[in-house]
Amino acid sequence: METVAKNKESNIILALDFPFENPQNRNVLFNKALKVLEQVHPYLCALKINHHLVLPLGVFDGVQKLVAEAHEFGLMAIMDCKANDIGSTNQVIAEYYYSAGFDALIANPFIGWEEGIKPIYEIAQKQRKGVILLVYMSHKGANEGYGQTIYDSETSEKTPQYVSFARKALKWNADGVVVGATYPEKIKEVHNILDEKIPIYSPGIGAQGGDIKNALEAGARYLIVGRAIVSAENPAKAAKEIRDVARLSLR
Ligand code: XMP
Repeated sequence: METVAKNKESNIILALDFPFENPQNRNVLFNKALKVLEQVHPYLCALKINHHLVLPLGVFDGVQKLVAEAHEFGLMAIMDCKANDIGSTNQVIAEYYYSAGFDALIANPFIGWEEGIKPIYEIAQKQRKGVILLVYMSHKGANEGYGQTIYDSETSEKTPQYVSFARKALKWNADGVVVGATYPEKIKEVHNILDEKIPIYSPGIGAQGGDIKNALEAGARYLIVGRAIVSAENPAKAAKEIRDVARLSLR
């Protein structure tokens, strides 16, 4: 990611999400997705896909073509599947996504290490792929889970859940963590824990109210942007503007 971001002079990751489309129109959806990617790729370092496209297009059909196209454009491809199941299931999910060409996937540390996250890491290490962990999500209800105070059995202290997850990300050697741009104070706190050892990926810019400058100044390294680009009248112009503001604000 670091090399690509440097070469492309961008730290913007496109979340290629579209509103619900009649499944019979999946060709229309695929063409829309391809068109946006073709228009905005010069301003990106990566493409992020989630179930918005996996469900209608299929992993080894439309999605794999989009991932291949992203690679053609020199971008990384991230699967935002928020893996959240028992290890044996996670392992197969990870194998399918990595086989489809994804360079990294996003997983939920709530499931824990043994028979949870560990099997994903084993596949990732074998295939030299990445695992990015959720630490604090961008939406309003995030405090109910990621923000709750827990008793941390490792430190025998009361700790915010996200602080514990940030420490686990270090221990597990995560390739990245996700902290919402809507909570710059949390980005700062997590950044202090991670100390540049693990990059922070930050969604929530624009449509969810997050601010580019605040997120980057707090310590985010990559910005994940969906609707502010995809739903713009001119996606290329929107992506360029976001990339330019981000470039100026990057520490
Ligand atoms: P918008 O349209 O709000 O889309 O720019 C944001 C994209 O990012 C995803 N998202 C998250 N993914 N942790 C994640 O792993 C989060 O906290 C989070 N918040 C938003 C969302 O699914 C969409 O693709």
